Amino acid sequence: AQASTANIRDFAMIKAFYRNYPSSLAAVRAKLNRPLTLSEKILYTHLYDPKNIQEYKRGASYAEFRPDRAGTHDIGGPMAILQFMTSGRDRIALPAAMVCDHLVTANAGARKDILFADQFNKETYDFLRDVSRRYGFDFWPAGSGICHQVFLENYDFPGGMMLVTDSHTPTACGLGMLAIGVGGADLVDALMGTEWELKMPKLIGVKLTGHLQGWASPKDVILKLAGILSTKGGTNCVIEYFGDGADTLSATGKATIGNMGAEVGSTSSVFPYDSHMKSYLQATGRAAVASLADGVAKDLHADPEVLAHPEKFFDRVVEINLSELTPYINGPLSPDAAMPIDKVGETVKSKGLPQNIEVALVGSCTNSSYEDFTRAASIARQCLDKGVKIKTPLIVVPGSVRIRETLKRDGILQTFEKLNATVMTTACGPCIGQWKRHIGDPSQKNTIIESFNRNFAGRNDGNKKTQAFLASPEMVVAMAIEGDMGFNPLKNTVTGANGASFKLAAPTGEELPKKGFATNVKGCVIPDFKKIEIKVSPNAERIRLLTPFAAWDGKDFVDLPLLIKAKGKCTTDHISPGGKWLPYRGNIDRISDNLLERAVNAFNGRSQSVWNVVNKDYETPAKTARLYKNKGIHSVIVGDDNYGEGSSREHAAMEPRYLNVSVVLAKSLARIHESNLKKQGILALTFVNPKDYDKIREKDRISVLGLKELAPGKTVTVVCKHEDGTEDRFQAAHSYNEKQLSWFRAGSALNAMKKAA
Ligand code: F3S
Repeated sequence: AQASTANIRDFAMIKAFYRNYPSSLAAVRAKLNRPLTLSEKILYTHLYDPKNIQEYKRGASYAEFRPDRAGTHDIGGPMAILQFMTSGRDRIALPAAMVCDHLVTANAGARKDILFADQFNKETYDFLRDVSRRYGFDFWPAGSGICHQVFLENYDFPGGMMLVTDSHTPTACGLGMLAIGVGGADLVDALMGTEWELKMPKLIGVKLTGHLQGWASPKDVILKLAGILSTKGGTNCVIEYFGDGADTLSATGKATIGNMGAEVGSTSSVFPYDSHMKSYLQATGRAAVASLADGVAKDLHADPEVLAHPEKFFDRVVEINLSELTPYINGPLSPDAAMPIDKVGETVKSKGLPQNIEVALVGSCTNSSYEDFTRAASIARQCLDKGVKIKTPLIVVPGSVRIRETLKRDGILQTFEKLNATVMTTACGPCIGQWKRHIGDPSQKNTIIESFNRNFAGRNDGNKKTQAFLASPEMVVAMAIEGDMGFNPLKNTVTGANGASFKLAAPTGEELPKKGFATNVKGCVIPDFKKIEIKVSPNAERIRLLTPFAAWDGKDFVDLPLLIKAKGKCTTDHISPGGKWLPYRGNIDRISDNLLERAVNAFNGRSQSVWNVVNKDYETPAKTARLYKNKGIHSVIVGDDNYGEGSSREHAAMEPRYLNVSVVLAKSLARIHESNLKKQGILALTFVNPKDYDKIREKDRISVLGLKELAPGKTVTVVCKHEDGTEDRFQAAHSYNEKQLSWFRAGSALNAMKKAA
C-alpha cells in the first residue's frame, strides 16, 4: 500500500493525544503548582507514569518518558532494528517511520544516483523493507526524501514528543513538537513501549523580538546563536523560543533553527504553536491536525508568567532582535565559528584560508523549504536577468520528493539549472560524506560553502583539507556568483554581461507555494505486520545479527592499556566516520574497522597512529583494538572536552565496546554519546579535575578501582602506572543512576532489559 500523508494509525494517536492533553496538563499543574514553560508542558505530559508526577531537578534528575512516535533511517535503522529483534517482540509499540536517505551517494545527478543506490544498497534496503513490514514502520524507499523533511511534511504535530536516531531530529520544532535525537538503543526503548529515560533538561530561553529584514533569514538566527552558545553551550538543555519575533517566522524557518540546535549540543528545541504552523499543516494535508491543535493552542505556549519574567523560569535567557540581525557565515570546521557577513572576508584572509570557493551547495534537511528555495532562486534570477555567469559550481539537494516536484512545477529548479546547477537526488548525499566529489588536488586546502548544518573536518566530502562554511541558501547562491569569500553581497557589486555593475537586491521568497504542494508524489509503504521471515545470511556484508555483549565480571579494571588519548575535538565523525563506511552500519564487525579513524593522538598529533602494547609499535586504533580483543585485553579511551559531540550514532559507542574498550574517561562527554556508552555497557567517566587529563601518559597502565561500590554520585579512583615506575592517582566522576548501573553490570541496557523481563 502507498500513502503520501500521515496514515490512519497516526491520526488515531494524534487525536488521543489532543483529547488527553488538557487533563494530563491539569494533573501536572496540580502537582507542580507553578507557571510552566512550553518545554515543561510537553515533557511532563509525556512522563511514562502519569500517576507519578513530581518535580524533577533540571540538569540533575532522570525522568522516564513515553514518546508519541519514533523514526529512524537507513544508517541508524539497521543497528536499532537488530537490537530490537533480540527482544523477541512481534511489533513495535508506537507509530514509527523508516526513511532510506543516507545511503545514496551524490555523484552524477538525481536519476543515475538513485538507480545506482538501489543496486548498491540492495542488501540493506531489502532488510529494512522486510523489517518495516513485519514490525510496523512506514517505509520510505530511497529517493523519498531526507528523514527530517519527510517527518515535517507528514508526521510532526504541535505538543507531541518524538525520538529519532538522528541528532537533527529537533527539526520537528518547526511544528511545535519536542523531538529528540537518540542512539539506536534508546530508540529500542520506545519501540518496545518501555520507559525511555532522560536527564530532565535545563532550559535556555531565547527571546526573539522584531522581524527579519533584507538578507537576514531564520538560518542566521541559529548561526548567530551558535556563536553565542558554542558547540557545547546547549548540552543537556532544551532551547525554548518565544517572543513576538518567533511569531514572524515561518514554520519551516523555525524548523531550520531547530535543526541546527543540534550544533550547540542541545537536547531539543521548541517553538510555540502559531498561525505559521497551522498554515503549514494545512498546506501539507493535515488541516484536521491543525484544528485539534487549535483546540489546545493556549497550552502550546509557555504560561504568561513565564513570558513576563523569563529570567525567573529559564536557566539562561538570550535575546535576539531579528530586526538587527545580519547574515552570518560560520566556519570552517566548527558550526559555532560565527562571522557576521562584514567580518567574513577579513577573517578568512587573516586565517590564511583559501578565498576561492570551489563548490556551493543548497538544500539538505536544514534548508529545503519552499521559502528557502524561492529566496535563493530570487538571487539566481537576478544573475540570469543580467547575464551573469556564476563562478562556483552549484549543487542543489532538495529535501524531499514533494518539495522537489513542487519546485519543478513552479519553475524554481529550472532557475538553478539555467545557472548550470546540478540537482542531486532527494537524500543526504554531500551533507554526510556521501558525495563523490570531483576535485583537482585533494591534498590542498580548499573552500566550499553550504546551506547545510555541520562542517566538521571531512564531513561533506571525506577530505580533511576541505574548509566548509555554513550560510543561508540565498547567501550561498550569492557567494557562488563571485566565488570568493571576500565578496559581501550586501555591499559589493556584480558585473553584468553588458559590463555594467549592479548591486544584488535583497532576496524575496514565498513561505508556502500558492498552488499548494505537488500531490503527484509516491509516498511510503504502509506495513501490514505480516510475519515474514527476516533472512540475514551469516556472510552478509551489510547486516550481521548481534551477539549480546558479555556481562561485567564484577572485578575492578586493572592495568588496562590506553587505546588513545584523543586531543581536541573528537566528534562521533572522528570516532566512527561516515562516507565509505556508512553502508556497514548494520555489521558491527565490519564497521569497527573505522574505530577512531579521525581522532588525533595527543602524544604525536597524528590520526591513525596509536601505541600498540603488544606489537610495541604504532598502529591504527582499529587494528590495535582488534588485536587486544583477540588476545582478551581490555583498554581505555581518554577524551578531551565534549568527547563524542555531533551525531547520535551509537556505533561510536558500540565499536569500542565490540573491540573490548571498557572505559571512556573524558574531560566532558556529549549527552547522546554518554547515553550511548552507558547503554552499550562501557563505563563512562569524567575527570573530577579536568587537569588530570594531563597526567595520562602514552604507555600508562590504567586501573579503575572501587567498581563494586559503584553508586550514584560516588566517584571512582583512577590509578595510572607510568612506564618509569611512578604513578598518579585521581578521582573520576560518573552520572549513572541505579538503573543505568544495572546496564553496566549486565553488559548493556538490552541485556539488563532481557534479564528483567
Ligand atoms: Fe541527512 Fe543528517 Fe544531513 S539527515 S541531510 S545527514 S543533517
